[in-house]
Order: sequence, then C-alpha cells, then structure tokens
Amino acid sequence: MKGVRIINNIHNRYILGIESSCDETAAAIVLNGRDVISNVIYSSADLHKIYGGVVPEIASRKHVEVMPYVLDQAIKQAGISIEQLAAIAVTKGPGLVGSLLVGVSTAKALALVWDKPLFGIHHLAGHIAANYITYPELAPPFLSLIVSGAHSHIVLVKDYLDFEIIAMTRDDAPGEAFDKIARELKLGYPGGPIIDQIATEGNPHAFQLPRPKFAESLDFSFSGLKTATLNKLNQVKQNAKQKNISWTEVISKSDFAATFQTAIVDYLLEQTLAAVKLTGQKKLALAGGVAANSQLRSSFTNKANQHELELFLPELKYCTDNAAMVAAQGYYAYLNQRPEMLSLNAQAMIDLANN
Ligand code: KG4
Ligand code: ZN
Repeated sequence: MKGVRIINNIHNRYILGIESSCDETAAAIVLNGRDVISNVIYSSADLHKIYGGVVPEIASRKHVEVMPYVLDQAIKQAGISIEQLAAIAVTKGPGLVGSLLVGVSTAKALALVWDKPLFGIHHLAGHIAANYITYPELAPPFLSLIVSGAHSHIVLVKDYLDFEIIAMTRDDAPGEAFDKIARELKLGYPGGPIIDQIATEGNPHAFQLPRPKFAESLDFSFSGLKTATLNKLNQVKQNAKQKNISWTEVISKSDFAATFQTAIVDYLLEQTLAAVKLTGQKKLALAGGVAANSQLRSSFTNKANQHELELFLPELKYCTDNAAMVAAQGYYAYLNQRPEMLSLNAQAMIDLANN
C-alpha cells in the first residue's frame, strides 16, 4: 500500500473508474487521466469456460458478489482518502445490460453518499483512453483501431470527447471470431490468447480465407472469414474420418490458428492503412482486447515503420477490459462535461459518436 497522497489541488484530479460491461469487475484510481494509482480486476472468465462464452446471468451475479471487494482494494491500494476523489466514472455501455447495471448502480450509490460528480463513459472511449495511460504525451487528433470481443471500429479521435466513426463491422467482431474458432478447436475460453500462443507453431497459409471489401466503405465483415474457417475444419474432419485418421494429422490446430489469425491481422491492417490514407492522420492508436494479439502488434509495428506512421500500443493489461481506462477517459469528461448524476442509466447499445 502506498503512503497517503497530498490533497487535491488544481493539478491533482483523482478519478475513480468502475467497469462491469462484460465478465470483468474492475475498479481503479487514475490521476489526471494518465497516472494509474491503483488498478484492480476480477475476471469471472473461469466460470464461463465450460460454456465456451460469457453467460450473462453468471457474469451479473458475480459482479454483485465481488464489486464491494474490488472497490475496497482499489481505494486501499491507492492510499488516498475519499475526500481526495474528484469524481466517479463508470462504463454506461455498450455491453451486457445486467452486468452494466451493477457498475452503474454502484457508482450512483457512491456518488450520492460521497457527494461526488458522476460521469457515464462509453466503453470504447475507455478502450481508446488506455493509450493515454501508456503514452502520457498522446493527445488527439489521432486515428484508432478498436478491436475487441464485441466491436471492430476505426475511429477518428478529433478531441478527447469527439469521435467520428470511419468504419465498423457489419456483423461479428474479431474477438468473437477468435473465441468461436477456439471453441470449435476445443482450446478453451477466452480463445484469443490461446490462438495467439499456438499460432506461432503453425503454417499461416494452410488454406485460403476471404477478406471482404465493400464498395465506397472501409467497413469490416468477419462472419465469412469465421464461417470459412469452420467449414474447412468440418471438411478436414470428414475426410480424416473416412481415412480413419485423426483430423489433426491433415491440418494441425496450430495451422488452423495461424491461418485464421494471419487472415484477421492482414485484413485489419489493410483496412486500417486505407483509413490512414483516407484521413491523412499520422498517428494510429490500437485498442481493445484483440490489440493484445502478438501478431497484430508486430505486423502493425512493421507497417507503421514503413509508412512513417506513429503507432501507439497500450500495455497488454490495459488492452483487455479494466477500469483504469474508464478513469482515464473520466478525467476528460470531468474537465469538459456536466455530470450525469442520478439520471445515468446503463445502455446495452450506444453510439460512440453520439453518446
Ligand atoms: O476488450 P475486451 O476485454 O472485451 C470486450 O470489450 O469485448 O476483449 C475481449 C476479447 C476476447 O474475445 C478475447 O478472446 C480477445 O479479446 N483477446 C485476444 C487476445 N487477448 C484477448 N484476441 C487475440 N489475441 C489475444 N492475445
Ligand atoms: Zn472491452
């Protein structure tokens, strides 16, 4: 535990962040949007493993159970007093509404009891703000690719609270595709990190996969890529069965992982570079759980060097869901917006450009 910090002054704004949009219950305290003072995360992923994906009711019930402990830890580890908190920021959406409601209700109760201003944060704005923690010098405007379990967006961050959507997925999200392929390969949940790990030993060109493009739009589509991978897997299994051999002797799990991952990474790279060209931006910040992918990070790093593009990659622990990113974005809401206070509600779907 750190020593008690000096009282808030004009330069010291401690924001308490709360995140509960999916299966992570998280609380964090961040100073002036950049300096993480405490960051506590509980994940219920282990409870969802046997189902191959998040079960909303289990996630919500776990949030209710662990939220008080997570909050208590975040405050104790920060070593500051409640009086020193400038504001409370909480993820208001998008996400699983039952899960979001736990964070929103907790934040409202605390704001009332502690008499603090309350700010509802868009989950994707939080993911983008993870970059402010890793790169204290980063300021808008910049372009951001947000890739997570539920989202795929290319966003022009014009200012801290001003976002323009350049492209988005028309169907599935890349993280969801990672999780689904991992489930079919019986690798476990969440699938992204496991595929990332085994892909290093596989052949990245074991079979062909589509990379869909739309006329006059940089939007993404991942469902064809996901279905083509699953069809290939079924076909390989059928053929192996007829020959009475194990399907992994035909194409290994690592080959599947490497081919699928390479297709996703190349596709994200192509679309993002087209968005860089379109917008003329020279700064690109990655965000979201899939931004933790090692091949994605190295491919983007190589291309950024070739294109004289300044690339920002959040630390791995700030790519996946956490509350420090919510507190970081909360600082800019605190500086620029009126508090939402007790009218705040959770929203399963909410537009980043207009929230
Ligand atoms: O941002 P996040 O924690 O939650 C959402 O807002 O959705 O992202 C979770 C997603 C999961 O689908 C998970 O499989 C994926 O991020 N993920 C990864 C990696 N680490 C997490 N995907 C690919 N490679 C990784 N290393
Ligand atoms: Zn997320």
